[in-house]
Amino acid sequence: MATLAFDVYGTLINTDAVVSQLREWMGSQAEVFSQTWRSKQLEYSFRRGLMRRYETFAVCTRQALDYCCAEYDVSFSAEQKDALLQSYRGLPAFADAEESLVALKAEGHRLFAFSNGTSEAVEEVLRASGLRERFEAVVSCDALETFKPNPDVYRYFMKEAGDSNDAWLISGNPFDVIGAVSAGMKAAWVQRSDRAVFDPWGIEPTATVKGLNELGEKIASQR
Ligand code: 2OP
Repeated sequence: MATLAFDVYGTLINTDAVVSQLREWMGSQAEVFSQTWRSKQLEYSFRRGLMRRYETFAVCTRQALDYCCAEYDVSFSAEQKDALLQSYRGLPAFADAEESLVALKAEGHRLFAFSNGTSEAVEEVLRASGLRERFEAVVSCDALETFKPNPDVYRYFMKEAGDSNDAWLISGNPFDVIGAVSAGMKAAWVQRSDRAVFDPWGIEPTATVKGLNELGEKIASQR
């Protein structure tokens, strides 16, 4: 039985779903706007962690949206920005999430959600996507007022989850996988696109899967 820490945004929850609303308002630039928004949101979390100038992940998300409006010279109204930020709290799960979580639970693994998002925000997005009941608990980096990939957050997770000797991070984000392995956890990289590139740092995932449905077999093979 392994202890599995599931990253949320980009792993369980599909952040691309924001694109359809953006496409309505700005047409063909929606995809690149959404990609810039996601990378700027993460950049702000990294910078705030390093600077020790903590704000919640939701603030990073909102300020990254303001940056993108300036960068792409679009003037969304306050209502439009609120609608985009509200949609972040109701994003859909990836299609493979529900059945994979049910199967992993049936195999006896302990399932946790583990995210930069505050517990309140993660509870809300997991409830909205129908996944909340699949998890034993939500563990949020907000408790430490810092962000992934600070090694402290992975150690915090392992303490919160009861210091299992078989603790895995499950994430679609290479920075997260490298952070977890570097902090002593096992980690599975969810490579949902063949175009996704893993950072050439020489710190490799314990396992790589194309979807959450492959996790059970990969975890068993690493026992
Ligand atoms: C998370 O949910 C940022 O996707 C990352 O913590």
